[in-house]
Amino acid sequence: MPDLVAVEEERELSSWELAKLELNWGRGDPVNIGWNLSDRICRQGLGQTKALIWEGFGGQERVFTYEDLRVLSNTMAAFLARQGIAPGERVCLFMDRIPELYIGFLGILKLGAVAQPLFSAFGEESLATRLLDAGTSAILTQKKYLPRIRRIRAELPALRHVIVADAEASALQQGETPLHLDSEPRVEDFPVYPAGPETPSVLHYTSGTTGQPKGAQHVHRSLLSQYLTARRVLDLQPGDIYWCNADPGWVTGTSYGIIGPWSAGVTQVVLDAGFNVDRWYSFIEKHRVTVWYSAPTAIRLLMKEGKTPAARHDLSSLRHLASVGEPLNPEAVHWSREVFGRPFHDTYWQTETGCIVITNLPGMPIKAGSMGKPFPGITAAILDMRTFEPVALPGRVGLIGLAPGWPSMIVGYRNNPEGYAKKFASGWYLTGDRGTVDADGYYWFVGRDDDVINTGGHLVGPFEVESALLEHPAVAESAAVAKPDPVNMEVVKAFVTLKPGYEASSDLELEIMNFVRKKLSPIAMPQDISFVTSLPRTRSGKIMRRVLRAQEWGEPVGDLSTLMED
Ligand code: PRX
Repeated sequence: MPDLVAVEEERELSSWELAKLELNWGRGDPVNIGWNLSDRICRQGLGQTKALIWEGFGGQERVFTYEDLRVLSNTMAAFLARQGIAPGERVCLFMDRIPELYIGFLGILKLGAVAQPLFSAFGEESLATRLLDAGTSAILTQKKYLPRIRRIRAELPALRHVIVADAEASALQQGETPLHLDSEPRVEDFPVYPAGPETPSVLHYTSGTTGQPKGAQHVHRSLLSQYLTARRVLDLQPGDIYWCNADPGWVTGTSYGIIGPWSAGVTQVVLDAGFNVDRWYSFIEKHRVTVWYSAPTAIRLLMKEGKTPAARHDLSSLRHLASVGEPLNPEAVHWSREVFGRPFHDTYWQTETGCIVITNLPGMPIKAGSMGKPFPGITAAILDMRTFEPVALPGRVGLIGLAPGWPSMIVGYRNNPEGYAKKFASGWYLTGDRGTVDADGYYWFVGRDDDVINTGGHLVGPFEVESALLEHPAVAESAAVAKPDPVNMEVVKAFVTLKPGYEASSDLELEIMNFVRKKLSPIAMPQDISFVTSLPRTRSGKIMRRVLRAQEWGEPVGDLSTLMED
């Protein structure tokens, strides 16, 4: 009988070692992600291949080859260096999906600084919290976001530079610098920062149940996993036209909206416009998209429109479809088989994992509703909820755990070592999700093991919403929980008690909703507010969100007397 553990380790090693070989690491080539996504691809003879075809809201198009990407990211890095930004400093990208965002990302990495992308719909409080925690030195943005930044700038002593990609100097205030990449002197050669595998690269903020958002720190070695999974899971091949729906403000938009595809040398198309069924299908048809990485909420929106809009377009270019962010319901898999002639392949991962960890590989038989199997090189297990040891029986629900050590795993939460330490038990990294594994080794998602709300694939921390609610003059106490939603899977629902002198009304409900939208974001805005006279609490006074959530989902509340214990 072969030693299974040894066989497993052998396979693990060969998977990442293969990526190292393909990227020529350890044989003199730079590790720096910025170099790998542009200079390396040019060296392979693909300099004239289109790297980015960008389409704006109004239909305008801008096209960049890999050679453009190489030179413009050098130009960006040199510009940032001239501003006095040093390796290791955090540079925030707070902008729409315009080319400067993508080029800025590469330039920041080439300089050895840390890219901190933030979703451009964030309101001032969401933005301030994350910039303050990161001690961000510079923010790269657009004119339309300046008012938000100006309002919080005084609270951010570390923020030395506000760089504006689309404004004339005359429209700017002191401490704000215009950037016009086209008129900057082109930099053919830039001394790319000699990043090591452990050098910080990208800082993404993600939400937890308690406390403020956590800064998940990625490092340059993540490229190994992102490259390999882009090739093997998304099936990216030379010549592919790839479309990822995600905004780089979230991890999917960087791992697989920048790093994965460009490390594979494919052409990426970006549509800087919101959801519209005909626009989306026209986009696929026009650019002959071959690989599409989307999300269940987007697929459900397409399904809502029925099959007719798809029939109006030639979508035959599509070769491979994948999805991420939320449970992919079986109906969506069946529907895509019917409409696109091929299924969406579910992929499961997190901000912390940096790369896809459980998935349906191309060609693998899909069990609709299952996330698939661990990617080769990843060891996953379903862990007992109390002992954190792997459960022996297929079908038993437990925590989804991963054996630490794959290349794109984060190295910590910024300023929060305790929070990071809590993610590990009995030698396993705890994803915070519950699931099961069946007798064939397929993983099935059951739910989150915390109070974080997943709305349309975006995580919202209840604590952040509750804190924002408490800032409204009428609100005495607050609780935020997930409420079921047919399209977004979950939306934020708030329960509030009012201060004396305030009356519940639909006007007040709207006012509070808007208040949270402006402070945090449209995603974190409660879609529904219940005015209540009291909130369920534990004996020590902690609000029991679980009781409120169970009510919303029509689930049994459980034994209240035990729940009341902390
Ligand atoms: O709860 C899981 C859910 O999204 C969480 C990760 O969110 P985030 O860190 O924002 O990263 C999103 C994109 C990778 C997970 O802990 N999730 C992600 N993918 C799936 C999923 N839930 C079910 N099925 C998936 N395929």
